[in-house]
Amino acid sequence: MPIQPVCHCSCQHSEGDECYKRKDIHLHVKTAASAPGKIILFGEHAVVFGESSIATALQLRIRVKIEDAERESFNGVYLDARSTPHAFHALRLSGRSGVGISVSSDIPAGAGLGSSAALSVALIRALRPEIEERELAELSYRVELAAQGRASPADTSIATHGRAIYISSRETAEELWSIRGNEVTWHVSHLEMKQIPVVIGFTGIQAATGPLVMKVKTLYEKYKLVREAIAEIGLLTEEAVVALRRNDLVRIGELMDRNQRLLTVIGVSSREIEKLIDAVRPYSYGAKLTGAGGGGCIIAVTDNPERVREAIELRGGSAFITSIYSEGARCENE
Ligand code: PMV
Repeated sequence: MPIQPVCHCSCQHSEGDECYKRKDIHLHVKTAASAPGKIILFGEHAVVFGESSIATALQLRIRVKIEDAERESFNGVYLDARSTPHAFHALRLSGRSGVGISVSSDIPAGAGLGSSAALSVALIRALRPEIEERELAELSYRVELAAQGRASPADTSIATHGRAIYISSRETAEELWSIRGNEVTWHVSHLEMKQIPVVIGFTGIQAATGPLVMKVKTLYEKYKLVREAIAEIGLLTEEAVVALRRNDLVRIGELMDRNQRLLTVIGVSSREIEKLIDAVRPYSYGAKLTGAGGGGCIIAVTDNPERVREAIELRGGSAFITSIYSEGARCENE
């Protein structure tokens, strides 16, 4: 929570010391917030075209600390639109200025686990600690759009709300908020589901989301097969909502396998992803890539996490056994 009153001086005194410029004792404003990474259980890429998607929050989090500063910086580096786009746009969109930002994270970057969206959400939450969830989701999505270009609000919405969400271009009774962008209106709803046993396998290859999203757009405009695959991903995601509510692991696994085949059709899988999926399949209900693809991570739903971990590591990947359905963005003690 912010500490009042605000000091905008340049005398670099420590907290609570006398400010020689203003001749009074005051405190610097310091705030901190965190937001979770995510996995997309179903519907990545298709969601950008307005199809349904399901995401859940990970225990891995990113933490952001903000304090008044003469020189705007991000982890000690001067802040600018090109090298620190999320922080740059978050400041601009939140209406704040004159701050130093420090960030620490346990979400691997470029792995498809939502590190950039979690950063956008944690930044806005730390810059505007009193902000409501709905506005936090909207502003963070604007940050992502400005920093990344074409994007759906899936990642920023799950990093905001936590637990699990279902996104669709149709309204639902459990709607949390709706967000418009790229000529689509997305309705974001809370999804009540049980913890399911998930293992994440990182291929070790970092792939940027923006170019993969643009690649799918090009293929979508060119090929009927890709448009059909995107629509089918939307339909199977609707089935997955029912399976998740029932905790039907067999059905969830079958739908994940089908989703993975369709992700291959739209050109976002890779040799490294297929290698890990082949390795975990004998011990899993189902497995698929998660996030943008091209590298990044796979997820497997399994009763045998240790066997799956071994299989991933034997093929040169790194495995995380972590719980899902974690808490969304929150303020932290700095
Ligand atoms: O790989 P990530 O964590 O950036 O996830 C991207 C998810 C996409 O559906 C491919 C893009 C989006 O904006 O929804």
